[in-house]
Amino acid sequence: MNYRHVYHAGNFADVLKHVTLTGLILALLRKDTPFCYLDTHAGTGYYDLLSETAQKNQEHAQGILKLLQQDHAPVLIKRYLGCIRQVNNRLSQSRFASFRYYPGSPYIVRNFLRTKDRMILCELQPQDYQILKAAFNTDQQVAIHHADGFLGLKAFLPPREHRGLVLIDPPYENPNEWMRIASALPLALKRWETGIYAIWYPIKERRPIEQLHQHLRKTIKKPILLIELIIYPETIPNYLYGCGMLCINPPWQFQKEINAMLPWLWKILTTDRQGSYRCHLLK
Ligand SMILES: C[S@@+](CC[C@H](N)C(=O)[O-])C[C@H]1O[C@@H](n2cnc3c(N)ncnc32)[C@H](O)[C@@H]1O
Repeated sequence: MNYRHVYHAGNFADVLKHVTLTGLILALLRKDTPFCYLDTHAGTGYYDLLSETAQKNQEHAQGILKLLQQDHAPVLIKRYLGCIRQVNNRLSQSRFASFRYYPGSPYIVRNFLRTKDRMILCELQPQDYQILKAAFNTDQQVAIHHADGFLGLKAFLPPREHRGLVLIDPPYENPNEWMRIASALPLALKRWETGIYAIWYPIKERRPIEQLHQHLRKTIKKPILLIELIIYPETIPNYLYGCGMLCINPPWQFQKEINAMLPWLWKILTTDRQGSYRCHLLK
């Protein structure tokens, strides 16, 4: 396992993933009943963008930094940026902290939880697991497991709340991760058919993506929303020119909320108006 997310923290792919995640959590918060969030590939929780590792490629400069420079933004983006500012203020212990920390999915979700909600995090990389564990130290609402996230789907579903969200965000270091998603999801839905599932994927080449879409369409009877953002030309081989999210059982009005922010997001993140975006139900 060579992948370390700190090298990519806050890049354009994180932005799409975490804006979508924010929208899903806000939808869950609309009801009073508690929910559970399962993060199968959690990372370290948050990232110091001044660290040597994050500074190496400065991927956040083409992602979150571009958003923070805007005076106006769609409602959902404002909620996401508000969360990022709150996490920075808390970690810096100052209300006027400048931007230094990028919250990963666990910190973003934790920022929104009510006392009755809870989260379960799986992380397999030993050092990242230790950092994650330290980040949530005595937090009673967070359970952290040094475990394979795909096995976590079997172990932790369905949650006792019977409401909630699963984020599946593997590093795709290994080509078999596409297959693992394809086989894990129908089984997870058998265990918990009303859960919301969000799956992030890289867009470097189209073949594995199309295969995954076709497989899920055949094996899953629930609605699947597809969200994609491409910001670089598709001509460079093996280059991350875009990314996508699949959302199974999307909340009511969610597609509308994504469509209200996606053109703006593409316009801010694209280089020389390259690429495209789309959001529609998978057919
Ligand atoms: C893309 S990063 C996660 C980022 C995080 N979800 C976020 O949005 O901030 C993927 C993480 O999965 C971890 N990982 C890799 N294989 C795993 C597995 N089978 N189970 C759990 N974690 C795994 C990696 O160490 C890495 O920290």
